[in-house]
Amino acid sequence: MLDRIDTLAQQREAFRADVLDGLSRPQKTLPSRWLYDDRGSQLFEEITALPEYYPTRTETGILNDRSADIAAIFGPQAVLVEYGAGAGIKTEIVLAALDDPRLYVPIDISGDFLKASAERIRARFPGLPVAPVVADFTDEFDLPADLPRDGRRGGFFPGSTLGNLGRKEALTFLARMRRHVGGDGVAVLGVDLKKDIDTLLTAYDDSAGVTAAFNRNILVRMERELGAEVALDDFAHEARWNAEASAVEMHLVAQAAGTISVAGRSFAFAAGETIHTESSRKYDVDSLTDMAGEAGWSLDHVWTDAEGLFALVSLSAA
Ligand code: AVJ
Repeated sequence: MLDRIDTLAQQREAFRADVLDGLSRPQKTLPSRWLYDDRGSQLFEEITALPEYYPTRTETGILNDRSADIAAIFGPQAVLVEYGAGAGIKTEIVLAALDDPRLYVPIDISGDFLKASAERIRARFPGLPVAPVVADFTDEFDLPADLPRDGRRGGFFPGSTLGNLGRKEALTFLARMRRHVGGDGVAVLGVDLKKDIDTLLTAYDDSAGVTAAFNRNILVRMERELGAEVALDDFAHEARWNAEASAVEMHLVAQAAGTISVAGRSFAFAAGETIHTESSRKYDVDSLTDMAGEAGWSLDHVWTDAEGLFALVSLSAA
């Protein structure tokens, strides 16, 4: 119990520090990981079912169609290591297709969330050992030393979460996953592909306003957890295409001049000024192949849907 209180207090302290730092910059910014409190995670679940948000159902469709090919990449008696344990149905599709898997290792920053998903997998796959690891997968960490060695270790990183990392962070992540799975290791990644800007922007600005609520929830969280004073109605959701970064960005746009007060500090906004809350980078296969190569991987297979919206790719240690 003490552990958990400690963790919550540390989380809040980290949130406060990120808010004070982010709102002090010329382009105000808040790290996207703070979007995902309970309410934010629930709103994201709602986003995945929206007609405009194609990534989740498209990726799930590819996984269903290609589960046999993907299982063949991991091979028999594999240890499946999942970075971020939120994929639910996608994880189940892969585990169900694997030939005699030895262990499932979900990694997540939220211990509670991890516990719940581990329980679900144990119920669905009795007899498959599950070894959860509490870690932020953008930090340096090691896998348990005593993993079974009969088959390969395979990394699984669905959901286009790679797209939320900057180029440097993405390279560091890919190199770490390469180190985790070792010399005969493999990985399967889900990545959202570059496409016409209209389709991209609509996916991040739905007509029901769920994405807007998801984005603005970070301000609600600042009020609740940090006692911030925010004129919530003054901030509007905007999705923007950043061509240079090849990313859809979410911003909160101040509709009028005003201030946000938090932790004894006050941050002034001009009308039209924004807080950048999330970047979702969109890849093409060439740029992804180059990046994977720099991180010690060769990109072997690409599976996409008929419209070429989304890709699952397999990597092997180069
Ligand atoms: C869960 C981070 C992959 O970037 O598409 C959805 C989050 N943000 N709509 C994405 C998100 C706005 C999503 N990821």
